[in-house]
Amino acid sequence: MTKIFVTRQFPGTAIEKLSKQKGFEVSVYKKDQIIPRKELLKRVKGADIILSLLTDRIDAQVMDAAGDQLKMIANYAVGFDNIDIEEAKRRKIRVINTPCDQSTESVAEHAIAMIFGLAHRLIEADNFTRAKKYKGWDPGLMLGSGLSGKTIGVIGAGRIGYSISKRLYDGFGVKIIYNDIKRNTKYEKDFKAKLRTKTQLLKEADIVTLHVPLLKATHHLISTKELKAMKKTAFLINTSRGPVVDETELIKALKNGDIAGAGLDVYECEPKIDCNPRDKFELRKMPNVILTPHTASATIEARDAMGQIALKNILAFTNNKRLPNKIA
Ligand code: GLV
Ligand code: GLV
Repeated sequence: MTKIFVTRQFPGTAIEKLSKQKGFEVSVYKKDQIIPRKELLKRVKGADIILSLLTDRIDAQVMDAAGDQLKMIANYAVGFDNIDIEEAKRRKIRVINTPCDQSTESVAEHAIAMIFGLAHRLIEADNFTRAKKYKGWDPGLMLGSGLSGKTIGVIGAGRIGYSISKRLYDGFGVKIIYNDIKRNTKYEKDFKAKLRTKTQLLKEADIVTLHVPLLKATHHLISTKELKAMKKTAFLINTSRGPVVDETELIKALKNGDIAGAGLDVYECEPKIDCNPRDKFELRKMPNVILTPHTASATIEARDAMGQIALKNILAFTNNKRLPNKIA
């Protein structure tokens, strides 16, 4: 009997399919909330496989609490910064994540929606209209900025960076520049994209969009110096991980007008919206900021596909086959 513990229900059919497999005993944390730490430590006991979410910190303590039989951690997410990968490797515990076209597309669409939202001031305009402030057509009302011919700076030209570039390049006639740890010739060819140093990219781009994983090297990738390097008319979009941006410095830059606006789906001390209590949730008062609650991959297509990938990897593992999405 393979015991699987699922830390929370998620949309789609994967959990049901998993439960119907012969030889599997699946238990799911039933409350629709992030599983409290104490509960997590209790419930993983005896599990062979943990199906975790990005909100669960899976570290040595959890692995100890599970016991020596723990063989696999399937993380229902693309990012896996919530898992102590080195510790898992040391214990020969397999780790997989769930990247898929559907979640890549969803995050790209969400980042683009934020770009349009900021450029066309959609949220502001909506609030204005609802507040019955519209008193007649005005050539200067809610002036935004067009996208055509603008330069998009993509930091991290992986799957999501590629997808956002394709959509903006094919559809909206933007110029693409990028920064990555390695050169990507296909990306350059497909979008006439130019590789830039981070500083140069920040200087040139009208929109900077972040698509890197959270690593030691990407922690506060965007901080004081970087925000100063950006154009005063530029927007920053973060749909990656909160700590990639130094949030306190971002708030300062927005207040000082060092940049024109930001679209944020992730936060440094998530689920808290601002990390530093002294910031007093000032982001909330800024009309040039769009805030979403880590929902960039929240399409029904993506959420189901992620589950199916977790399922596929679990079945591959229990059948001694190669893992399609092996991290460790
Ligand atoms: C979402 O943030 C994910 O990593 O899947
Ligand atoms: C705007 O509504 C226009 O007709 O130009």
